Amino acid sequence: MNVTIIGCGYVGLVTAACLADVGNDVCCYDVDQDKIAILESGGIPIHEPGLHEIVARNKAAGRLSFTTDPRRAMTQREAIFIAVGTPSGEDGSADLQYVLAAASEIGRHIEGFTVVVDKSTVPVGTARRVREAIAEQLAQRGVDAMFSVVSNPEFLKEGAAIEDFTRPERIVIGCDEDVPGEHARDTMKRLYSPYNRNRDRMLFMDVRSAEFTKYAANAMLATRISFMNELANLAERVGADIEAVRRGIGSDPRIGYHFLYAGCGYGGSCFPKDVRALMQTAQEQGQALRILDAVSEVNAAQKQVLVSKIVARFGQDLSDRSFGVWGLAFKPGTDDMREAPSRVLIAALLERGARVVAFDPVAMKEAQRALAADLRGEPEALARLTLVEDQMDVAANADALVIMTEWKAFKSPDFDSLKARLKQPIVFDGRNLYEPSAMDELGIEYHSIGRSG
Ligand code: NAD
Ligand code: UGA
Repeated sequence: MNVTIIGCGYVGLVTAACLADVGNDVCCYDVDQDKIAILESGGIPIHEPGLHEIVARNKAAGRLSFTTDPRRAMTQREAIFIAVGTPSGEDGSADLQYVLAAASEIGRHIEGFTVVVDKSTVPVGTARRVREAIAEQLAQRGVDAMFSVVSNPEFLKEGAAIEDFTRPERIVIGCDEDVPGEHARDTMKRLYSPYNRNRDRMLFMDVRSAEFTKYAANAMLATRISFMNELANLAERVGADIEAVRRGIGSDPRIGYHFLYAGCGYGGSCFPKDVRALMQTAQEQGQALRILDAVSEVNAAQKQVLVSKIVARFGQDLSDRSFGVWGLAFKPGTDDMREAPSRVLIAALLERGARVVAFDPVAMKEAQRALAADLRGEPEALARLTLVEDQMDVAANADALVIMTEWKAFKSPDFDSLKARLKQPIVFDGRNLYEPSAMDELGIEYHSIGRSG
């Protein structure tokens, strides 16, 4: 099939590479010329395990191409996916300017029947607005091309994106009930058939329900995490261990083990913004989503939880202190710094006068950019932040080590060498990587989440 993907970010590039890998002819279109130049020259603008190989082999086979030319990308394609960003607007609602710009571009170029697929995470009712934007351009051109807008939200996780896309738990497709909608349904069935073996994973529904499903899923997952974080904080007070509690409740299949890890708050490009957008949708409808208000508030507080522990240990004034930080990306397996808890922690430590030395196995470049943006206008604070290339270097003469992301490289470090470098053997662990009793034996003062150790 001939397919175009608009937007070469985490979702667009993974979708494009995977669809090409099963034999489709895929064209990737982006307005970012630098990104397209990197892709054309054989590079990958993001860190996503396994993606580079798939892109390279499909590019070499002539099934995957990149362009900034909308005409080349959008004429005579059977399906065009919109996979551009939908960041939070000022009021928390999803900013649809990129989606609608992509829709207008589609309307300026399609000639015959085209299936337009909303893959971006968009509020209920967006497919209708996409349809109107396309129709408006077609009318201006005087072209009578048929098209159908399908909602096909994406559920992949960064760091596991290829696996999630090619072995999905479900493929949600919202189609209209009319004749173009029936054609679109067949197209989607054919496109996704390679990922639909053994068990039928395709869930067909109406467009509005598909749009809603995406927000419901992310809101449910964010709720689990905030609830576990609140339980963790209480567990600490009552002398229970949240890790034992997690195993205890996860063993109930009605609860399940996934997404029950307490930590230093959820980040990333999706949970925070999607929770905000769903709350905004509810508000527009005159309904308060009280649970999500709490989820969001609890998460903001949780991003400060290690700061509170550090202040309780060292006092409010940290001006003669130095902290080493392990982990900057919002989670392992990615270089994505969007809404990463590390940004909140580092800003809070610098604000209290501390020096911070930080390391991440893959997100150093993104971190440099994000932290410089956060500290714009505060050159004195920025000067107290150093990013180092060796994870052990963060510990040199530090008052404590702080762990923000559970990268594998941090799971079994050389504790003797760590102790020898630190000014005092103190670890604040936002991801519960170690056993408190083992830390005790090693003579390390250990502060973690939801455990009295
Ligand atoms: P991203 O910011 O990584 O990439 C978006 C890309 O779209 C950028 O390269 C940008 O230059 C391009 N773009 C913007 N406007 C354009 C236009 N008019 N024409 C062509 N290209 C344009 O975004 P992402 O993280 O891939 O997310 C995309 C969408 O998918 C969002 O709605 C997000 O909520 C959703 N989503 C993301 C993930 C994830 O893990 N990142 C998972 C599921 C769903
Ligand atoms: C999340 C969803 O898991 C995907 O299904 C969805 O497609 C995607 O958002 C999206 O809509 O963009 P992602 O943001 O890549 O994926 O990462 P997650 O693995 O979900 O982690 C999100 C945040 O929650 C991270 O900061 C992580 O550290 C935190 N988390 C996750 C916890 O604190 N505890 C957990 O048990 C799980």
